[in-house]
Amino acid sequence: MKFFIDTANLKDIKDANDLGILDGVTTNPSLMAKEGITGVANIIAHYIKICELVDGDVSAEVISTDFEGMIAEGEKLAALHPQIVVKIPMIKDGIKAIKYFSNKGIRTNCTLIFSAGQALLAAKAGATYVSPFIGRLDDISTDGLALIEEIRLIYDNYGYETQILAASVRHVMHILNCAKIGADVITGPLSAIEGLMKHPLTDSGLATFLADYQKGNN
Ligand code: G3P
Repeated sequence: MKFFIDTANLKDIKDANDLGILDGVTTNPSLMAKEGITGVANIIAHYIKICELVDGDVSAEVISTDFEGMIAEGEKLAALHPQIVVKIPMIKDGIKAIKYFSNKGIRTNCTLIFSAGQALLAAKAGATYVSPFIGRLDDISTDGLALIEEIRLIYDNYGYETQILAASVRHVMHILNCAKIGADVITGPLSAIEGLMKHPLTDSGLATFLADYQKGNN
């Protein structure tokens, strides 16, 4: 399973990358705004910084919602760096844009997926990734992980190569359950990724080992 970090914060990206386990980065307009990155020139410069920090796919989201606008924006984003994946919303013109980019060999991530039908359509259009938002489904008392299971079943039935990028991952249990189901990728905050390494018995066991070493070597 690939690990992406879902942030535009360069320090968090560097921290995750320094662990040696990072496969890519996802961003969205809200994450960019959270870091104070505004204006096209600054946003573009930030994408390039992220690509230079990490050796992996970097999702860059279009703002347009019409076909022509998405094509124009997506082509510019894809030309920025070979690691850029154009992130396209799950709307009617978005599906057309994904098909267009797929025919041109430009990789896409279809975002804002909340149903298996949307994921099926995105795969038919040739999306490289689909991003089902599991945390936001949980937020409205709907089982986000059940959606990952449904998409996995459908894609496996037909051999779709579109990768399931479980997004809106909030915590360790989301990551573990995605791994059990067979999501291709998870994207989440640094806290969720770092949470995987934490266990109180590891901490107390290490403290004991170090204390015993000190006793024997004083
Ligand atoms: O990047 C899309 C998605 O991961 C957003 O997550 O936590 O805002 O629901 P969240």
